[in-house]
Amino acid sequence: MNKTIEYIKSKIEKTPDVGLILGSGLGDFADNIENKIVIKYEELEDFPVSTVKGHSGELIFGNIGDLEVVAMKGRIHFYEGIGIEKVVYPTKVLCDLGIKILIVTNAAGGVNESFNPGDLMLITDHINFAGVNPLIGPNDDSIGPRFLDQSYAYDRELRNITKVAAKKLNIDLQEGTYMWFSGPTYETPAEVKFARIVGADAVGMSTVPEVIVANHRGVRVLGISCITNMAAGILDEPLDHKDVIEVSNRVKDKFKTLITEILKEI
Ligand code: HPA
Repeated sequence: MNKTIEYIKSKIEKTPDVGLILGSGLGDFADNIENKIVIKYEELEDFPVSTVKGHSGELIFGNIGDLEVVAMKGRIHFYEGIGIEKVVYPTKVLCDLGIKILIVTNAAGGVNESFNPGDLMLITDHINFAGVNPLIGPNDDSIGPRFLDQSYAYDRELRNITKVAAKKLNIDLQEGTYMWFSGPTYETPAEVKFARIVGADAVGMSTVPEVIVANHRGVRVLGISCITNMAAGILDEPLDHKDVIEVSNRVKDKFKTLITEILKEI
């Protein structure tokens, strides 16, 4: 990892304060970054490249106003089969570059029946249902504690800033718990019903491992889901990845303005 960090540092002028992981179809937010320095994942030793449509593979450094940021355009998922270590590797790199805040975004299926496709959901908490935890294995106490507290996995102050920003922009922001399923299958209607019973508002195949690792490294986290579809069984129609991409594309301007407003306030 040191080699990767050294390589990145040799390419950038200022270290980023905020990292953004841009989920399916939300990568366009990177267009807002000024004075861009782009590093392709392929250039980086050990950096996993996503095979999923809608996920390109670039780290984009630059500034938005006064804030130095780095955006990950495209992420790797656990279901791609490369092991949880690799899934969280990019997040570890961003954290070790010195970011103080990580903004994670994703496409998710709505479980809460009051949600609609196209809604944005502020993640208030998560349920790890993938049967894997990226912190399993020896713990380096100089990085973070063996038994990590997750009472405030999603930073309360950042959540408040987001709610105020949404209100100011007249964006109807949903709030709720994100439940991580490994995928790559979409959930069955029975699994979605189960998710609702245990308290989930949205389901998805990412985010939780990155959040755990960022928390472990003391980085504050903000999470936002784009509800691209109602989860399986809620509407009497099959799910299709094309719709996920289509809806996130439809929502991306709302998403961009919200993130831009949040960045002004942090
Ligand atoms: N389930 C899991 N992941 C998803 C979904 C879904 O319904 N929609 C977008 N990502």
